[in-house]
Amino acid sequence: MSPRRDPSSRPPPTRVRPTRLRRFRRTAPLREWVAENETELRRLILPVFVRPGRGRPEPIESMPGVNRYPTAHMEALARELNGEGVRSVLLFGVGRKKDPEGSDAWAPDGIVPSAIRAMKRASPDLVVATDVCLCAYTSHGHCGVVRKRSVANDLTCERLARVAVTHARAGADVVAPSAMMDGQVGWIGEALDAAGFEDTAIMAYSAKHASAFYGPFREAEESTPSFGDRRSYQMDPRNGREALREMEQDAAEGADILMVKPALTSLDLLARARQRFSLPLAAYHVSGEYSMLKLAAAQGIVDEHAAVKETLEAIRRAGADLIVTYFAREIARWSREGR
Ligand code: PBG
Repeated sequence: MSPRRDPSSRPPPTRVRPTRLRRFRRTAPLREWVAENETELRRLILPVFVRPGRGRPEPIESMPGVNRYPTAHMEALARELNGEGVRSVLLFGVGRKKDPEGSDAWAPDGIVPSAIRAMKRASPDLVVATDVCLCAYTSHGHCGVVRKRSVANDLTCERLARVAVTHARAGADVVAPSAMMDGQVGWIGEALDAAGFEDTAIMAYSAKHASAFYGPFREAEESTPSFGDRRSYQMDPRNGREALREMEQDAAEGADILMVKPALTSLDLLARARQRFSLPLAAYHVSGEYSMLKLAAAQGIVDEHAAVKETLEAIRRAGADLIVTYFAREIARWSREGR
């Protein structure tokens, strides 16, 4: 007896159905189905410039839409941000008085400690990070103390550690050293622990290139160096392997988050760092990157919403968990508008 065959059976197909990647691009809900990334508000950190004195927020000419806020305004700002859905800030102080050592940077009643206390009072859940550097407090505008016309590494680290402890004492959740001194993360971590701030996190500006895109920021911070430039401490933009060494070093010194900067010129570094480290990664979309987009949008050259979203999505796709961006409030507004 021959084996019974199901008459409906056919030989298996030999043809493989061609891949058509457009299938999931056909409608908006299908595109949502397969979207790999999002620039969620919870990942965005808004830089905030704080200045001495009272009065109104002061617009920064080269950064349309960005202000310098007097400390007296910080409670109100924290409440506004809370209402808008912005979850975290990175504070930058403008020194009340500048001297060669940058001593106002670690004054307990300084601009940044006052701002931290005010913001935390008004909005305890706001994540407050602070930039730890001397450049807005030194009379010469360099990121550290100068000896023999050169920025002295370890003397600067010792001062950065004092700044970090001052910020932690005022209630900062995260301190972010940006001076690009060798060993700064280690110095800061040790000082924080010695002062009892074991839980204050360190977000290290690890791979920070000497960039032309910090121009508008230096206007905001009044921190342009009065002689020379920052190339003896910030990284040469040509170097990528060295950037990874900077990150390795900071990770080894105990950094909790590694950051690259500027963002768009460091997408390769983000992608490589994502493979190599399990620490959270941050990218700083800097002032020049902001102003280029803002000014192009104001001229009608690009659509602001589309261009900003695309930019931040690229930074996410490259591997950033967190993005420091002056567009955080716009993103919050667009998300309230359902865009
Ligand atoms: C301080 C610091 C700078 C920026 C962040 N922290 C300026 C600089 O290094 O000259 C740049 C941020 C921006 O351009 O948005 N050292």
